[in-house]
Amino acid sequence: MVGITRRDFAAAGFSVAALSAAGCASAGPTLGQAARGAGLDFGSAFDREVLTDRAYGELLTAQCTKLVVENTLKFDWLRPKGPQADFSHADRIVNFAKQAGLPVRATALVWNDWTPPWLDRLSVREVEATFDRHIEETVGRYRGRIAMWDVVNEPFFPIQRRAGGFRQGVWFNALGPAYIARAFKRAAAADPGATLILNEAFCEQDDDWGTEIRPRLLALTKKLRDDGVKIDGIGFQAHLKPHLPHDYRRFAEYAQSFAALGLDIHLTELDVDDSSFPDEPAARDAKVAAQLESFLTPVLGVNRLKSITVWHLSDRFSWYLGHEGYKSQVRTAGGNPQRAPRTHLYDQDLRPKAAWHAVHRALRARA
Ligand code: XIL
Repeated sequence: MVGITRRDFAAAGFSVAALSAAGCASAGPTLGQAARGAGLDFGSAFDREVLTDRAYGELLTAQCTKLVVENTLKFDWLRPKGPQADFSHADRIVNFAKQAGLPVRATALVWNDWTPPWLDRLSVREVEATFDRHIEETVGRYRGRIAMWDVVNEPFFPIQRRAGGFRQGVWFNALGPAYIARAFKRAAAADPGATLILNEAFCEQDDDWGTEIRPRLLALTKKLRDDGVKIDGIGFQAHLKPHLPHDYRRFAEYAQSFAALGLDIHLTELDVDDSSFPDEPAARDAKVAAQLESFLTPVLGVNRLKSITVWHLSDRFSWYLGHEGYKSQVRTAGGNPQRAPRTHLYDQDLRPKAAWHAVHRALRARA
């Protein structure tokens, strides 16, 4: 195995005592402990930064009961130049979580977005072979070490106006909608013990995208179940967008309909797009916190909700940083486009914000 993370871990200066003490907002329970009290796991995205940013690694380890690989296991990160994968970075990341004693979820095994250009030059038969090879090699390599896979990410993208509302891309174009069942079957064969989920965006919104995707996702899931495909759960990304129409009670009812099918529910990428909120940090933080609480309060009532994962714990690694779409939304809302996003639970200096307390309160209320 390429990963030598025990050494990395020691070199980065971790100690068990430091890990257990890190990142508590007060002497009270961590987010992970509060989540466990509510019968849930609490996770965060993480990636290569943990190998060099000791403080952030400690914070993640102290606060989370699971970790989710943000990018390194995506197809374009594993196989940027051709079909041969480089697993060396992924090994180190997965080993980091193992050393920290935390289970791993990985995303996204199959996604029609962000595929590398070399795939576009393949014939349909070559795409099929690459698809199967990717799943077998990747899931197989981490069999027993990656507990949960987002097998298919974002199956729908109605703005592309394809029949069925499916997201276009190299996999869909070669295999049609059948790529979804094929991915689940191959993943189950490569690691029969892994938890397999279908992950989708936008369902929390009541705009045109959300209202079109919701029934399509439910119908797809029912069809997979009826066809005997192993699917264990559904992931709702929950990148909340307060500037769009939303009704979180209605979303909770919708999520409940998957539980009625016997599936577990996961919130997989929770954060709040704060682009429409005021520049002033305290005012912005209060609004982010209120948005999280208004979302979590009804959603935490959903049966079979099993985990909440934030799409990074700290603004230090916000995926909105430097994002052109985010800046232009801030500008449109009358804010300063150069301001730093405050979209997560901890600020850039790893201090807990109002958002941390809002999530903590909501979890305690569920307990
Ligand atoms: C994002 C990562 O956070 C970024 O670092 C990367 O540049 C692009 O992908 N929905 C998803 C996630 O399913 O995989 C995306 O993650 C965020 C939106």
